Amino acid sequence: MCGIVGYTGQEQAAPILLEGLSKLEYRGYDSAGIAVRNAGELPQLAKTAGKLHFLVEKTDGGKLLPGTCGIGHTRWATHGNPTVDNAHPHTSDNVIGVHNGIIENYAELREKLTDKGYRFYSQTDTEVIVKLVDYYYKKYGIGPIDAINRTMVRARGSYALALMFVDYPGEIYAARKESPLVLGTTRDASFLASDVPAILKYTRKVYYIENLQAARITPGRIQFFNLNGDEITLPAREIDWDASAAEKGGYEHFMLKEIHEQPRAVRDTVSSLADFSSTGLDNAFLRSVERIYMVACGSALHAGIAGQYVVERLCGIPVRVEFASEFRYRHLPMEKGTLVVVVSQSGETADSLAALRKAKEAGLPVLGIVNVMGSSIAREADYLIHTMAGPEISVATTKAYSAQLAALYILAVRTAMAKGTVSEEEGKYCLDEIAALPDKIGAVLENKKQLQWFATKIASDTDIFYIGRGLDYAVCLEGSLKMKEISYIHSEAYAAGELKHGTISLIEDNTVVIGVLTQEEVAEKTVSNMIECRSRGARLMVLAKEGIRVPDGLSDFVVRIPSVPDLFSASLAVVPLQLLGYYTSVNRGLDVDKPRNLAKSVTVE
Ligand code: AGP
Repeated sequence: MCGIVGYTGQEQAAPILLEGLSKLEYRGYDSAGIAVRNAGELPQLAKTAGKLHFLVEKTDGGKLLPGTCGIGHTRWATHGNPTVDNAHPHTSDNVIGVHNGIIENYAELREKLTDKGYRFYSQTDTEVIVKLVDYYYKKYGIGPIDAINRTMVRARGSYALALMFVDYPGEIYAARKESPLVLGTTRDASFLASDVPAILKYTRKVYYIENLQAARITPGRIQFFNLNGDEITLPAREIDWDASAAEKGGYEHFMLKEIHEQPRAVRDTVSSLADFSSTGLDNAFLRSVERIYMVACGSALHAGIAGQYVVERLCGIPVRVEFASEFRYRHLPMEKGTLVVVVSQSGETADSLAALRKAKEAGLPVLGIVNVMGSSIAREADYLIHTMAGPEISVATTKAYSAQLAALYILAVRTAMAKGTVSEEEGKYCLDEIAALPDKIGAVLENKKQLQWFATKIASDTDIFYIGRGLDYAVCLEGSLKMKEISYIHSEAYAAGELKHGTISLIEDNTVVIGVLTQEEVAEKTVSNMIECRSRGARLMVLAKEGIRVPDGLSDFVVRIPSVPDLFSASLAVVPLQLLGYYTSVNRGLDVDKPRNLAKSVTVE
């Protein structure tokens, strides 16, 4: 996600801002910019597309920009491609600002501000919110905090904001809703940043601003305000991490950090699709879809398989899931009425990109579900759903997979509503249940000790089987891949009904079998399959949804997940399986974030 930094003090700000941004590069970005100023002078901006070193070169390490107060930003593109015009900071007559997050109602606000005479130079939601602050500041002749508070009441979505007002030299203003922002002070300077690494060099005493709070930052002093404009006090926190741990937010590995970022990743993805027409997929087009080909690789394919069940159930149309590496060489019928959905975290996977191009050559419309804005698949797809997981550093995907599930659920519901295969009321119920997933994922994450314990029991095993039916089988595929790719233990996922057709011959004393039970209509069948394994000596772990009965004595290890509609249970069931793979890898002393032989994006065939 984007990185924000701010400094006001006695030193030249630009070099400090650039160094702070370099500590946030791990967050991923595709453009950068800073704005600095001295008392009595207008702010000066410098922005570049691409990596931070271009901005460092352009400003000679910041030396060319005098001024002791400034803000900086590395942008992870969400609205608008990675160009200089879209790079932050964004400006208006009286306000300059940088932003991390998504303003859901930015289109509506942009229209209103245009009607008030504002003109826009970028495609970003950030320029809109900066101009909205400016609007309130001018219209009511109020101070910065009041203008920010009015803006927070009006804007919907997530944001961390750092703003400078032309009339307030030496001061920075901040505001926050959902997106992280940390502030710190020394005797004669003050700092703000999206994350601790950017200010750890200067101070370990920090303040975490809360949702719908604002701050006035001056050299050596920070004041906090609530939405009513009352000054409040926030507790100082002591950071006891070292620099490298700080990039991981205090987690031992990026994978564990990203597992814990899943509630936000899903929340932001769902929020970004609140106005589904922004994808270009209007109801007339959705009604015309008679069948879907889901094409992807690895975990993205597993998300596609889960999506297949949901689309078929809600829309009543056939969905075929194909490995991209197979799709590109098969001779599948490419009939009118077929929508090809290419799912990819990186948007650069060679097989998936080739499959996209093959579909387009055949004249079929392609929807890309992609995490990296501006990537090849994002640019070449006819339609785009941008998952909002933010940059994913660990090779083993977790938060991007969960964001892909959320995107596929919403695609299924919107298509079903357009086709009339579900009523408006049923559709709204589904959308509400999807919106409730982030909190339920958070609840599952509270329960990680159980998985940490079980991982110690299986770390020396050589074979682990995952079994489930329907959507539970789709989850088993992803759980098994997580285990294989980071713990190097052989593992297979099986549709539980298939065991009798060969695989059960592999079950012997102490073979580890993980059974997933979230699909109520087939739960009893899967329990029978588990009993078959148990009676042949298997050690069973049962992952069951609240409310599904697990017979006494079936397993000495049962993990429960909160109740959730069957259709969306994959989002919860996958989390314990991610954690199990993670802790098993840690127990085996392996390089969790960079497993052997693997790359984060497979850009070759
Ligand atoms: C998942 O943990 C793996 N890293 C891998 O299977 C990955 O999902 C696959 O290579 C597809 O990558 P993409 O989503 O970037 O296209």
